[in-house]
Amino acid sequence: MALDTEFVRGQFPAFSEPSLQGQAFFENAGGSYTCAPVVDRLTRYYTQRKVQPYAPYEASRLAGEEMDEARTRMAAILGVETDELSFGPSTTQNTYVLAQAFGAWMQPGEAIVVTNQDHEANSGPWRRLADRGIEVREWQIDPATGHLNPEDLEDLLDETVRLVCFPHCSNVVGEINPVTEITAIAHAAGAFVCVDGVSYAPHGFANVGRLGPDIYLFSAYKTYGPHQGLMVIRRTLGEMLPNQGHVFNGGSLYKRFTPAGPDHAQIAASAGMADYVDMLCSHHGGPTGKPSERGAFVHDLMRAHEIELLQPLLDAVKDRNAVRLIGPSDAALRAPTVTLALTRNAEEVAADLATHGIMAGGGDFYAGRALRAVGVNMDAGVLRLSFTHYTSKAEIDQLLTALDRVL
Ligand SMILES: Cc1ncc(COP(=O)(O)O)c(C=O)c1O
Repeated sequence: MALDTEFVRGQFPAFSEPSLQGQAFFENAGGSYTCAPVVDRLTRYYTQRKVQPYAPYEASRLAGEEMDEARTRMAAILGVETDELSFGPSTTQNTYVLAQAFGAWMQPGEAIVVTNQDHEANSGPWRRLADRGIEVREWQIDPATGHLNPEDLEDLLDETVRLVCFPHCSNVVGEINPVTEITAIAHAAGAFVCVDGVSYAPHGFANVGRLGPDIYLFSAYKTYGPHQGLMVIRRTLGEMLPNQGHVFNGGSLYKRFTPAGPDHAQIAASAGMADYVDMLCSHHGGPTGKPSERGAFVHDLMRAHEIELLQPLLDAVKDRNAVRLIGPSDAALRAPTVTLALTRNAEEVAADLATHGIMAGGGDFYAGRALRAVGVNMDAGVLRLSFTHYTSKAEIDQLLTALDRVL
């Protein structure tokens, strides 16, 4: 069954917005368009339910109920218990809070492992634990390919390591890391695992329960939703780490790592992401059973469409003079987040692409460690072309024509 892109695009108001006509969007890794169910729920919340939730009057009851619905339905898609999912302002902030919790729990001399493939969000907050006497070990990528080799992790592990942090997929290398395999290696050494799923989640929600990490983070503004960070913390770890929230919330797993007051409207609107998964699933004749099965079906539909569109783009850039493709040239091994090192300044190339109706960006995408490690000239930066399942073949053709003109 192929993805019905016309149906898909009909669920995104941006595709019928007059000011965006003729513009092909290739900066999705920065933030996706928002699907209609999320926009509708956000509007309804702000117009009908914008009151303090969880009080007995009707508007408040509905507000609280919708917030609970978002957590319940998204947790079910992710294959975890409802209270193992929490919402925070962003993935960066969620990671920061988690790092405070680990910092309080760990003893000086104990160690954590971070990578140089990650976005700063899953790196800096952990690295700062060195100030508290915690040893930080860096799991390094291959300087030629950007590949993160699980065998190299084994050399970094011993009985002092408490946590291993890595991305499901880097926002510049694009290669999909084998989360289950890596998690098994870390767990065998007695370490917990924290996965940054931000760059992977837009390409289909993972069954986090089955994948196995103890922490899995992603950002809803990249998965067709509002500006929220979603954070799975499995029970054993979440109940063991010290509470970072209000003291009276310490007994509630989903409140322990969200010290800020929650953004009620955005949490409620996050249920629209579950609506969208369900719409895609039923439109394509998918399973009617468990939400995680529907999520898996939609994930596979999205991935198949993306792989089909991605391979011609990779083929077009991989052997071009004066272009270096970062990460794998086989579409099946990566997300459709394509980073190119060029001989010209990448932001200038992005500006040239904009004159051909291509929306893309240049720079370091907060992943400077990964780019420096693979030898990118940081003054020039990289051009990033990222798309998702709602991208059409016509938009890929528009991009290929534009690249021919500007590269
Ligand atoms: C891979 C990756 N991780 C983490 C983040 C940070 O997410 P947030 O903006 O929600 O803090 C980003 C944002 O671009 C990202 O691409």
